[in-house]
Parts: sequence; structure tokens; C-alpha cells
Amino acid sequence: MAFRATILTLYPEMFPGHLGHSLAGRALERGQWSLDAVQIRDFAEDKHRTVDDTPAGGGAGMVLRADILGRAIDHVSGDDARPRLLMSPRGRPLSQARVREIAAGPGAVIVCGRFEGVDQRVIDARALEEVSIGDYILSGGEPAALTLLDAVVRILPGVMGNALSGVHESFEGGLLEHPHYTRPQVFEEREIPAVLTSGNHGAIERWRRAEAERLTRERRPDLLSQPHLSQPVTK
Ligand SMILES: C[S@@+](CC[C@H](N)C(=O)[O-])C[C@H]1O[C@@H](n2cnc3c(N)ncnc32)[C@H](O)[C@@H]1O
Repeated sequence: MAFRATILTLYPEMFPGHLGHSLAGRALERGQWSLDAVQIRDFAEDKHRTVDDTPAGGGAGMVLRADILGRAIDHVSGDDARPRLLMSPRGRPLSQARVREIAAGPGAVIVCGRFEGVDQRVIDARALEEVSIGDYILSGGEPAALTLLDAVVRILPGVMGNALSGVHESFEGGLLEHPHYTRPQVFEEREIPAVLTSGNHGAIERWRRAEAERLTRERRPDLLSQPHLSQPVTK
């Protein structure tokens, strides 16, 4: 069974967005994954199709109603085994490890928040897993859902042309990736590091590993304090 993504959103026209192009788009056409964007307003019951209301306790903004979102979730997911995710800046930061777990499963139901957020009771009642894509605030969950799906879809079997290119990337070995070079040999007086054109594969691997460690130390020392992740990147 192909990976099945169902998005609950107030803006279904934002999907598949960039995922309709390039590798993900071709994989979508080939049926290697599927995407269904469902309008949350279809589950409202008043004639204006209202989905939000003022926050209990007062304050700015509006809150997505629990009853309407609950109906929408039940309609699309029933009792299927897919994880139910809520894109949320309060969530656990998305990691490549979680991306791999999601990609290994049957798919995902992804709720895109809007306004000030979502009524807590539906988050609890439908056991939504809150997922953040970073410490900043977007105006809605749609770009976050597209980001998560982008990361998932590219590692689905058969989606990337060269499967190995998914194994050597940043985070996969707990380190940031080493720098890349290609022709021309000289660009504005800057040469490709000599070791990379030496033909000595052992030396090239050692150089790449050392560069990956250097970059990680400089930019993301927090990754080095997770020793279970800091395994050598092996061919
Ligand atoms: C304006 S934001 C709400 C922010 C909320 N009031 C807060 O301070 O946590 C509206 C919606 O955008 C989405 N969103 C915003 N930033 C996000 C992030 N960093 N990661 C994932 N989703 C995000 C969520 O779905 C959220 O419900």
C-alpha cells in the first residue's frame, strides 16, 4: 500500500503545492504516495460554515472549534493506523528520525492550525501529536505540513533516483554534512580541495568525516551531545 497523506485544512487549494513538482510530483503521479486535502469547513453546521470562535477566558484572536475539527478527523481517519499530527509551534521539533518513522508507516493525517490555535480538548480527545518545524510562528499549518511531507516523501522507496544520496545527508549520522564541490576546478581563484581529486578514497572519506565534525562543532554542537546519533557515516 502506498503512503497515504490526508490533510485537514481551511486552504485545500494550497496542496499539493510544491509537492506537485520534481521528484515528489512524479512520485505522486505514479501513485507512489497519495494526497487528499480536506476542507475543515465542510464539517461546520451553520450556513456561514463557521469553524472558529472567541477564546474562552478572553484575549486576542480566534480558536478552531473542537467539535468541528473532531468530526473532520473522525471522517478522514476513523480507526485507521495512521498517526494524527497537528502542526504546532508548541510541538516536539521535527527530526529526521521522526521523518523516517512516519515514512515507514502507512501514511499520516495532518491537521493544519490557523488563528490562535486549536481547542485543547480535540487535541487531547483525538490524541493529536503536535509537531513543530522550528522556533518561529507561521500564519498557518499548511507550509509546515508541506515541509513535513516533503521530508517524508523524498525518502519513500523508489522516490529518489539514487537511494544512497538519502543516507549520507546531514543528521543521518548525527552530524551535519561535509561540503560539496564540482567543476570547474577553479572558481574565482578558489580551488577544489586537493584531496577530493586525489583518487584516494580512504583519504577522501577521512576528510569528509573531519569536515562534517568541524561543521557540526561550529554550527550545531547540540548534535554532538546526543552520542547515540553520532555514528560514523558509512558507505
Ligand atoms: C499563528 S499560528 C498560532 C500560534 C499560537 N498562537 C502560538 O503562539 O503557539 C497558527 C497555526 O500555524 C501553525 N504553525 C505556526 N508556526 C508553526 C511552527 N513553527 N511549526 C508548525 N506549525 C506552525 C500551527 O498550525 C498554528 O496553529
